[in-house]
Amino acid sequence: MSVAIKRALLRAVAVPFPSGGGRCCTAAVAQAESVQLSKEASLYVHWPYCLRRCSYCNFNKYIPKADNGSVMADCLQRETETLLRLSQVSRITSVFFGGGTPSLAHPSTIARVLETISRHASLPEGAEVTIEVNPTPVGRSRLKEFHQAGVNRFSIGVQSLRDEDLKLLGRDHDSQHALQTLAEARRLCPGRVSVDVMFGRPRQTLGSWERELSELLSVCDDHVSLYQLTVERGTGLFKQVELGQLTLPAEEVMAAMYHSARTLLLRHDFHQYEVSNFARGNAVSRHNLNYWKGRQYIGVGPGAHGRFAPLGEGGAVREARVQTLEPDFWIQEVQHRGHATRKRIPLATPLGLLEEVLAMGLRLTEGITHQHWQVFSPEAELYKVFGTFPDVENLLLNGHLILDDRGLRCSWDGLALLDSMLPTLLLALESYMDR
Ligand SMILES: C[S@@+](CC[C@H](N)C(=O)[O-])C[C@H]1O[C@@H](n2cnc3c(N)ncnc32)[C@H](O)[C@@H]1O
Ligand code: SF4
Repeated sequence: MSVAIKRALLRAVAVPFPSGGGRCCTAAVAQAESVQLSKEASLYVHWPYCLRRCSYCNFNKYIPKADNGSVMADCLQRETETLLRLSQVSRITSVFFGGGTPSLAHPSTIARVLETISRHASLPEGAEVTIEVNPTPVGRSRLKEFHQAGVNRFSIGVQSLRDEDLKLLGRDHDSQHALQTLAEARRLCPGRVSVDVMFGRPRQTLGSWERELSELLSVCDDHVSLYQLTVERGTGLFKQVELGQLTLPAEEVMAAMYHSARTLLLRHDFHQYEVSNFARGNAVSRHNLNYWKGRQYIGVGPGAHGRFAPLGEGGAVREARVQTLEPDFWIQEVQHRGHATRKRIPLATPLGLLEEVLAMGLRLTEGITHQHWQVFSPEAELYKVFGTFPDVENLLLNGHLILDDRGLRCSWDGLALLDSMLPTLLLALESYMDR
């Protein structure tokens, strides 16, 4: 980086926060936003079952022993009702059915959960309602009914267009199934279909990845989620890699794959709005944006996570909540007491909340605006917290991080290095709060 650019970055750090009137106005908007935030939430519903285990996956999922679809539907409804009452939110801004494989759920289950939400809070007409779909013939055959039940966005787990790789990863679909499901989803919800695709797979080369992604971009809709394959402890893939039966591309190749994917996506008019997410036009995932912007969300179903203040039982502080993991225990608890929250961690200190706002917000390409930060931190401005901390100054100087009158964000290169920058930023936050 040239010295001139480095100086410009330093100047950006030194530029004061927008002058008096602007600051006052930002504070007022931030306060209004803060009040509004406690009345609204997104809602995530976890369907914990899959037909089989993909070799790389360590999500909370189980192979069903028997068909308990009807009791699951009852319990999902009951827990939705209870948690809505506890949170006292008046408006649900988006709903996401994830898993596991929620496309194995009966469409009437989806309809029942949505009806329950509408009975206990407002679910505005047109609010984003997404379901993750495994692109198998069963998944495809249910798309129309999911749509009729109220789903208006599909997220399809394509993962790869190479049949040998899909087999290797233990997927129960092939590339033809994926293409057919994608076409049907686009017919039903044009402009509101996302695909998940993974890179860094065993034996994958940079050239083959670029060809595969180009193929996918010629048939996909307006949203792509890009995941680097992670080898998770305890999975079949972990064992295969440990035993030397499979090797993954080297770190530099993985980095080159991410870089070339970002460039290719941009060339196809997809703007990157988050580390792993790309959209054409305004086809961003509103539900996931709520997470990254630190808004409240309610998690329903086995192992679901939530973040909300339980105003309904007198709690004023936002809590991180985790539901019981194992579906049979979860069912028993919901039947017994209306919900199966296993863990509640109050985010009582400003530090806990701000750490989340920081780690989530920096995933976005727009980063954290001053106004957004002020919603959670009325006292400590971004400049004060990060502008003078020596190690953060280094990140600003080397151009991986930007702090200016828009706020704090990663540069194009910095976004790929976010994980390695976060410890420094968290340390800066902690030491500021300790003062
Ligand atoms: C847990 S899955 C649930 C959706 C659906 N069952 C499916 O498989 O498509 C959500 C997404 O997480 C991603 N994912 C899961 N495990 C991963 C891993 N070990 N590394 C990278 N991505 C992973 C996959 O791309 C997948 O589409
Ligand atoms: S289908 Fe999805 S959730 Fe189920 S095991 Fe495979 S990746 Fe995991």
